Amino acid sequence: MITIKNVNHNINGTPILRDINLDIPDKSITALIGSNGAGKSTLFSLIARLLPLQQGSIHIDELDVSHSKSTAIAQKLAILSQENNIQSRITVRDLLLFGRYPHNQGRVTPEDQQIVDQALQRFELEPLQQRYLSALSGGQRQRALVAMTFCQQTKHVILDEPLNNLDMYHARELMRLLRQLTTEQGLTTIMVVHDINMAAAYADHIIALKNGQIVMQGTPDEMITIDNIQTIFNLDTEVVSHKSKPLVIHHL
Ligand SMILES: Nc1ncnc2c1ncn2[C@@H]1O[C@H](COP(=O)(O)OP(=O)(O)OP(=O)(O)O)[C@@H](O)[C@H]1O
Ligand SMILES: [Mg+2]
Repeated sequence: MITIKNVNHNINGTPILRDINLDIPDKSITALIGSNGAGKSTLFSLIARLLPLQQGSIHIDELDVSHSKSTAIAQKLAILSQENNIQSRITVRDLLLFGRYPHNQGRVTPEDQQIVDQALQRFELEPLQQRYLSALSGGQRQRALVAMTFCQQTKHVILDEPLNNLDMYHARELMRLLRQLTTEQGLTTIMVVHDINMAAAYADHIIALKNGQIVMQGTPDEMITIDNIQTIFNLDTEVVSHKSKPLVIHHL
């Protein structure tokens, strides 16, 4: 469980996050939604301590994120950031092996190789494993980065826009895989998703941020209504029910 209490965050005197209080439940997928600039990535950076916490507290299970060693955090939580500056003269296989670093400090074991083999297979990356990241398409690189995040084998996984650059096939395959991995391995998966219908179809909980504040949270059925989408995104939509899931029609 990730517990966030009374978190406020300012950048150069401007409030970016205000009064954030959240309990993110285990063994489930939580989707974080909200407009560009709402504060989603900032919140993720605070949870993973990529940014120092200014006020409040964040716990990952019993671990106080402000007062823990980086290695202790890395063994509990893996993050895929929205922007990545990973050295691109590295093969896909080596990138995934790099994901094992918090466990092996660079001394690769046969178990690490096995974990990487499984991930290459599950993320459909086997044919690309010897390719350099610099020689991949945007979507292929994104899939490799998501697979690396899972190779860290942490109970908590935070993914900032994992569907970026993915085509329809790979976006759906990834959401299905995230669902399977979360259920099979009892993970706490938190992701930023801009495609509201993907959140509706695959998330257990949805949290909406607006102007740095949590405006509402609930199950997809509770959250995805015409009025709520209007409140969160200032957008007129239609919402229908398809195969017992809410479906937002927003492109017409
Ligand atoms: N280093 C920074 N300096 C100044 N302002 C910043 C900085 N980082 C973020 N911000 C501002 O903080 C706000 C929240 O940014 P954040 O990246 O968390 O948004 P987001 O919800 O992830 O948006 P997106 O959907 O576009 O990724 C934005 O207004 C942004 O301009
Ligand atoms: Mg962001």
